[in-house]
Amino acid sequence: MSTPVEIAPARGKLGVLLVGLGAVSTTTIAGVLAIRKGLAKPIGSLTQMGTIRLGKRTEGRSPKISDVVPLAGLDDLVFGGWDIFEDDCYTAAKTAGVLEPALLDELRPELEKIKPMSAVFDQRYVKRLDGPNVKKGRDKKDLADQLTADIRKFTADNKLDRVVMLWCGSTEIFATENPAHATIESFERALEQSDPSIPSSMVYAYAAIREGIPYANAAPNLTADVPALVALAAKTGSPLCGKDLKTGQTLIKTIIAPGLKARLLGVAGWYSTNILGNRDGEVLDDPESFKTKEESKKSVLDYILQPQLYPDLYGDLCHVVRINYYPPRGDNKEGWDNIDLVGWLGYPMQLKINFLCRDSILAAPIVLDVALFLDLAKRAGMHGIQEWLSFYFKSPVHAPGLYPEHDLFIQLMKLKNTLRYLKGEELITHLGREYYD
Ligand SMILES: NC(=O)c1ccc[n+]([C@@H]2O[C@H](COP(=O)([O-])OP(=O)(O)OC[C@H]3O[C@@H](n4cnc5c(N)ncnc54)[C@H](O)[C@@H]3O)[C@@H](O)[C@H]2O)c1
Repeated sequence: MSTPVEIAPARGKLGVLLVGLGAVSTTTIAGVLAIRKGLAKPIGSLTQMGTIRLGKRTEGRSPKISDVVPLAGLDDLVFGGWDIFEDDCYTAAKTAGVLEPALLDELRPELEKIKPMSAVFDQRYVKRLDGPNVKKGRDKKDLADQLTADIRKFTADNKLDRVVMLWCGSTEIFATENPAHATIESFERALEQSDPSIPSSMVYAYAAIREGIPYANAAPNLTADVPALVALAAKTGSPLCGKDLKTGQTLIKTIIAPGLKARLLGVAGWYSTNILGNRDGEVLDDPESFKTKEESKKSVLDYILQPQLYPDLYGDLCHVVRINYYPPRGDNKEGWDNIDLVGWLGYPMQLKINFLCRDSILAAPIVLDVALFLDLAKRAGMHGIQEWLSFYFKSPVHAPGLYPEHDLFIQLMKLKNTLRYLKGEELITHLGREYYD
């Protein structure tokens, strides 16, 4: 045992501010309300159902994670958010078409009370969308100040103790880091000049981080993953994580690929294709938004398979990712993977995966876990990039000079060891020699 980290108690109410009240957000909110009422179970959520082994295997101590670290309770969560559409959360959830109307009707009064605040939005960054509920401002700095006013009002109106913010808005067009993102000063100057290199998502991230609020990015766009905002987070004590929730096909990829590599089976090709019919699919039908998603999805295999270490096995890997917008399926995505494997003496084999998944059903427990763990991080005095939350993301944000860890099982070990570290419990290395001494 070492000294536990001092963690402030999860007293009072926690505000969960979601940018974009679309399929993912409304499925998260309605899900939490349903679970609160005992209508459903929080399946897929580590904070609600996960356990953690503490001490030696012989000790038989495997409490629930929520009994080990002080997490905000579901009854203490208050949801709010922004969207470019004026629909309240009930109407938005109906439009998203993820949850059964009968369930939404049971939750209707509470869902209807959640009305989106007007958004910071510029169609240049999400070409396929346009909506009326949008703020006007002198420049991007002024728009950030308006968001800060929204956050403060939401906190006061709901008598909140703490707030976290998650970007669950649409995927913005592909962008790379540029000099405006280099320092806090250059970033603030760029805000004042309404520099095009600051997309809407960064305006939200800036407003949250400047307030010291934990911030996560559920989408693949850059958002807070630039030096200026990481530096600002260090100054204000804001924990950060992202990017792009690891659901569906990429989740399966990061489960299968480490297994193939563990057995040193070669991979000559990995062809992934999807059909998806929700609004996210419509936005991703724009090539510039798709490019952001494609980059996020494609990097996974390179990092897991490490072709530079295993050129004979993965040096010539052909990795193709396609997303096809196909409205009849709505949020119920269907993904196909064809993996061309290589075995002993170079003999080829094939593996086919057909995953009929539900995108937002896989995403909602992640949004809940990330909100609760980021709030924990804040109360434990951990700020800046929270690499231990990589488990939840396709493109985990990481320190410069490090490569991101994509292997789901290493990510889970890192997450659980971080919880053990916080509580002063022994870290588990799985060495296990002591059982045979
Ligand atoms: N569902 C998943 O499994 C999954 C997985 C990984 C990442 N994501 C990402 O999460 C995000 C949300 O996904 P979704 O399925 O809920 O999409 P969605 O299209 O249903 O919802 C996005 C919402 O964001 C709103 N929006 C866009 N720009 C905004 C802005 N500047 N301010 C406020 N609101 C804004 C849109 O109006 C829309 O209501 C997308 O970027 C998606 O790529 C989703």
